[in-house]
Amino acid sequence: PTAQPFSVPLPIPPVLSPVYSDRSTDYYELSVRPGVAEILPGVQTNVITYNGSFPGPTIKARRGRAVKVAVTNRLQTPSAVHLHGGIVPQDSDGHPLDVIQPGKHRVYHYPNDQRAATLWYHDHAHHLEAEQIYKGLCGLYLIEDRKDAPSLPKGQFDIPLMFRDIALDDKGQLLWAIFDGQRRNTVLVNGVPQPVLKVRRRKYRLRLVNTSNERMFSFRLSNGGEFVQVATDGGLMARPVRRTEISLWPAERVEVVVDFSKQRGGTKIMLTNANGGDVASTSQIMQFEVIDGIRRDAPDNDDSEVPPKLSVLPAIGAPVMMTRKVVLSFDAKNMVFLINGKPYDPHRIDYTVKRGSTEIWEVTNADPDPIPHSLHVHVVQFRVLDRNGKAVEPWEAYPKDTVSIPAGETVRLLIRFDAPYTGVFPFHCHFVDHSSVAMMAQMRIVA
Ligand code: C2O
Ligand code: CU
Repeated sequence: PTAQPFSVPLPIPPVLSPVYSDRSTDYYELSVRPGVAEILPGVQTNVITYNGSFPGPTIKARRGRAVKVAVTNRLQTPSAVHLHGGIVPQDSDGHPLDVIQPGKHRVYHYPNDQRAATLWYHDHAHHLEAEQIYKGLCGLYLIEDRKDAPSLPKGQFDIPLMFRDIALDDKGQLLWAIFDGQRRNTVLVNGVPQPVLKVRRRKYRLRLVNTSNERMFSFRLSNGGEFVQVATDGGLMARPVRRTEISLWPAERVEVVVDFSKQRGGTKIMLTNANGGDVASTSQIMQFEVIDGIRRDAPDNDDSEVPPKLSVLPAIGAPVMMTRKVVLSFDAKNMVFLINGKPYDPHRIDYTVKRGSTEIWEVTNADPDPIPHSLHVHVVQFRVLDRNGKAVEPWEAYPKDTVSIPAGETVRLLIRFDAPYTGVFPFHCHFVDHSSVAMMAQMRIVA
């Protein structure tokens, strides 16, 4: 079964309503449970879901206002919910071994005491996360701040685009195997392949989120048009940056503004993936179809704009207390991915980090095979200082929580451990097919 390309409207994941709110906190409920999704028109595909939704519902949080999420696990397997990019206490981090057992429930506490940003939540149960994220356990978590660049497009003109690749059998059911990137040749946007989004003649804010297990995208617009990037993983950049190609590795997020005001009604612009080979299902990701507004020959009234100064970022001048080397590699003999020469084990503590300190992590992909890796560090937003000794582009220099590290490359990260929490937190490759087979380590943050 297949769908006619660019005929299915882009679904927008539902926004979750709080079950209760008080002066300081919004309370939500999520149930982790099997469900069905209509990935292909008329076909019921078995998936696993948060609240029956594929991908999961979006949680909208406000900076400075806490969120508590009560999660019930209705699967036969353990589950842990991790708020990716969140600055949260250890007992709400969804540590891979701090799971919710089948039939049990627990409450996660998210203070939202951090910059507004496009975060996402996903399963993190050790050894299971790759499969469970693949089958549907992820959703968006948007922290908003009314003071942040209020002139950017908002409401119905602020659109999330969650990308992931899957493999389907001839009945339209998910095929699952680890390291199966070759076979995952259907790319979904918000849960369906090759959707179309009808856009008006005006500016849109698009939040691009790569939730894939290991697919790396390189996005372009088929008319050669520009993306004006306004935000990274960790929220608004200081200034916008114009780009015509955007590379997005697993777990990375980029927010862009695209201006359709100069397009005539009826124009079709494709979002393409330059890494997708010559297969339409992996290279022609979705379509924007420009529609006329009230007046056929004129752009919409659009009072949104991208200000030349988006945000003032905290200074990063603190003295560096420690430089550490992190090495990513693969043990081909035992088929296991390693950090600092070792597979994950729950007792390892690679680094003891002082809360409030600033460190430089020099991360090398030492894989002799050309296997790409990345590094995600829990409970921080870092800056990429340089890549192979060379200054990085602005979209890497602003706050991020996940960094790409192609084979043979070394990146240096400046990490300020300014979260008020102590305890054991993971850092790992965010190719989840790798992290779920041991490409993960831990640090202990101490007071
Ligand atoms: Cu999105 Cu520990 O990861
Ligand atoms: Cu990896």
